[in-house]
Amino acid sequence: MSAIRPAAVVVLAAGEGTRMKSATPKVLHELCGRSLVGHVLAAARELQPESLVVVVGHAREQVTAHLTEIDPGVRTAVQAEQNGTGHAVRMALEELGGGAIDGTVVVVCGDTPLLTGETLTSLAATHSADGNAVTVLTAEVPDATGYGRIVRDGASGAVTAIVEHKDATESQRAIREINSGVFAFDGQLLADALGKVRTDNSQGEEYLTDVLGILREAGHRVGASVAADHREIAGINNRVQLAEARRILNDRLLHRAMLAGVTVIDPATTWVDVTVTFEQDVVVQPGTQLQGATHLGEGSDVGPNSRLKDTRVGAGARVDNTVSDGAVVGAQASVGPYAYLRPGTRLGAKGKIGTYVETKNASIGEGTKIPHLSYVGDATIGEYTNIGAASVFVNYDGQDKHHTTVGSHCRTGSDNMFVAPVTVGDGAYTAAGSVITKDVPPGSLAVARGQQRNIEGWVARKRPGSAAAKAAEAASRQVESED
Ligand code: UD1
Ligand code: CA
Repeated sequence: MSAIRPAAVVVLAAGEGTRMKSATPKVLHELCGRSLVGHVLAAARELQPESLVVVVGHAREQVTAHLTEIDPGVRTAVQAEQNGTGHAVRMALEELGGGAIDGTVVVVCGDTPLLTGETLTSLAATHSADGNAVTVLTAEVPDATGYGRIVRDGASGAVTAIVEHKDATESQRAIREINSGVFAFDGQLLADALGKVRTDNSQGEEYLTDVLGILREAGHRVGASVAADHREIAGINNRVQLAEARRILNDRLLHRAMLAGVTVIDPATTWVDVTVTFEQDVVVQPGTQLQGATHLGEGSDVGPNSRLKDTRVGAGARVDNTVSDGAVVGAQASVGPYAYLRPGTRLGAKGKIGTYVETKNASIGEGTKIPHLSYVGDATIGEYTNIGAASVFVNYDGQDKHHTTVGSHCRTGSDNMFVAPVTVGDGAYTAAGSVITKDVPPGSLAVARGQQRNIEGWVARKRPGSAAAKAAEAASRQVESED
């Protein structure tokens, strides 16, 4: 590995990407939880380069801010005007000190999110093993339109040049081997060759691809490495290609998960981020999106129709029709159907957050159940407590948020309001329909509601002749005849 460790990787990301038709710079568009350029950087990092330089230009403040966030070790080189890929690499070399560089310089484009570290590593390995001045990563594609074509010598098969689509002749356009835009260069020769690149082409740009011909004419070795899977080098230029790449990357991630022991019922409707992790014997039901740092523990069962972001699901837990963000679900716990877990939710082992329940910043102990129609925000609940249906933890007084504490082994009644700050002691009960505004000592029953009073004969007096009055009369006759 260290033998092929490059001196630098240069990522080209200065272009605007007009075909995306977007206010967002192209390389910041997202798939599977990472930006386009984020995927490229992750692959580049696998090479462990001494320096990693991203060439920025269009919307460079926004792109640079993003780079600082996702990979603070990245250096940026500014290309104020996009005068071509060769010019962009020159700007990167200036950032690295100008002259010749000892070692290999790998160049990749910022819009090829499917490129793997493995492919880059094998390109770098071929490059150093063959002692090349430059090695280009190529691929055979079904439709080469728009790509630079790899021109090879008829007799030896050696690469002689790369010709851009716009500059190619009819017979060159028939070539299906294309330039991926990924190269490994000898850093000693690159700067000098870039200085010789001209702009006498159809786009009036400095083409990086011309470096190949220049090095070859100077008598240096030029090589090519053909990618095993042409889909890996696809550049994203519009949103159709973005969706296609997302599909491919998602399939790749699911494939890996399935081979590691995860059952995915419907890969077509299951979407995962690169950062999601699974243990063995997980089942993912249809219509499920797993995002960010989500982790599914052994034997857990998630979905259908769920979106889990930054959520840890414990072993054997069941999460059904749920939206969750920043929650921790304990082992053997049960969530949903139709639950909304917001940041700071911690559900203990064997606990339950049931149907139409929303939780936020709530620590819920082992075996505790909140089965129906409730809001639990800013709360600590002990173990094996049952929260009655339709309860609200009233945490907001219009200005500040307050905390509610409910102990262990409590039985709170249905339709309770816990007006925070308030504490319910261990083993306490509360009556249905109570508005709990005062602390409840351990073991007490709190009753906080109006007394019921029955006004007899009210219907007969106030609603005479109504269906209700007739029904009431019939009921009283029935009682009399039974007496
Ligand atoms: C380029 C290659 C082509 C190859 C194709 C692969 C050249 C001249 N052509 O063509 O052979 O088949 O990629 O996808 O290299 N960029 C800059 N500064 C510039 C111009 C481009 O940073 O001045 C960046 C872009 O942001 C992009 C990458 O370089 O990430 C490629 O540029 P693009 O304009 O897409 O090149 P293609 O015409 O696709
Ligand atoms: Ca392109």
